Amino acid sequence: MENSDFTSYRSLCCRSKLHLTEHSDECNGQLCCSKCGNLYVIVNSIPRFVSSDNYAHSFGYQWNIHRKTQLDSFTGLNISKDRLTAGTQWPDDLRNQRILEAGSGAGRFTEVLLATGADVFSFDYSLAVEANFLNNGHSKNLHLFQGDIYNMPFVEGTFDKVICFGVIQHTPDPAQTFLSLAKQVRPGGELVIDVYRHDIWACLQWKYLLRPFTKRADKKKLYKLISRLVPLMLPVARILRKLAGRVGARLSPIVEYSHLGLSPAVNRDWAVLDTFDMYSPEYDLPQTLATVKDWFEKAEFVDVVVKNGFNGVVGKGRKT
Ligand SMILES: C[S@@+](CC[C@H](N)C(=O)[O-])C[C@H]1O[C@@H](n2cnc3c(N)ncnc32)[C@H](O)[C@@H]1O
Repeated sequence: MENSDFTSYRSLCCRSKLHLTEHSDECNGQLCCSKCGNLYVIVNSIPRFVSSDNYAHSFGYQWNIHRKTQLDSFTGLNISKDRLTAGTQWPDDLRNQRILEAGSGAGRFTEVLLATGADVFSFDYSLAVEANFLNNGHSKNLHLFQGDIYNMPFVEGTFDKVICFGVIQHTPDPAQTFLSLAKQVRPGGELVIDVYRHDIWACLQWKYLLRPFTKRADKKKLYKLISRLVPLMLPVARILRKLAGRVGARLSPIVEYSHLGLSPAVNRDWAVLDTFDMYSPEYDLPQTLATVKDWFEKAEFVDVVVKNGFNGVVGKGRKT
């Protein structure tokens, strides 16, 4: 397994360089800062800059059960690649680029980014990093760590590109999350994000009625319940989508993706995963197009494009 170049990481406290302590190796051990003395453990080849006991633990749970479900290499389709390309407009060859991927989950987009030849720094707050490592840890150009968007182990302004898909709505303060990401972009570099859209239709979704209860439920019990109910409800959800498109899909309390061309078995797994992903997270804070545009402008980005995309609002801009 790769993921062994730790030279880019900095102490969360003083931003000084880290080094491996005596008796440590790239798989298990500690990174130490000679200036502030802070220590960061490496477990299973992954440096850990946060404790795993945090608000994102439901994601660690789901991504380790559904490690492969959404990977293009598993489905045989280009669903993740198409979403990434539509949002970023980046070319297929990104060699010599330093990319930061925030909130990578099981690594469906990490896989696509790695194929461009870029140096990819990818992280998640939860134990989803374990799943990503199993999926993508063989790639020489992956630098994977467990970390928090609000305190990343880098000197600011060093990344050519920063990407954050499907994450911002799941953080406690989306505007601060955006700012934190924006700070990592070098002058002239790009930031691309997507976030759930807030509109009247969003408010009418079942999840916002049920989430006050489900987000507090025991995650294992909730997952068990969802994995039993989803296969029973799939036929109705499919009919609703066929009859009334996206509006029909929103009438259903579960999500399903038969329209993407998935096989019935993968569609069922994906429906279980995304239905759990809808009801279990601590935070679900969708944003309007205007808010996202405002974030980019206040952070002094130029060439800003904000539009509706695959998974809500997609925003892209270049740092001055
Ligand atoms: C819906 S998942 C999306 C994962 C991946 N981007 C994808 O689209 O498949 C949201 C991810 O954001 C991560 N996340 C939430 N808050 C975070 C934070 N403060 N720092 C880093 N990751 C965070 C969660 O752990 C979770 O894996």
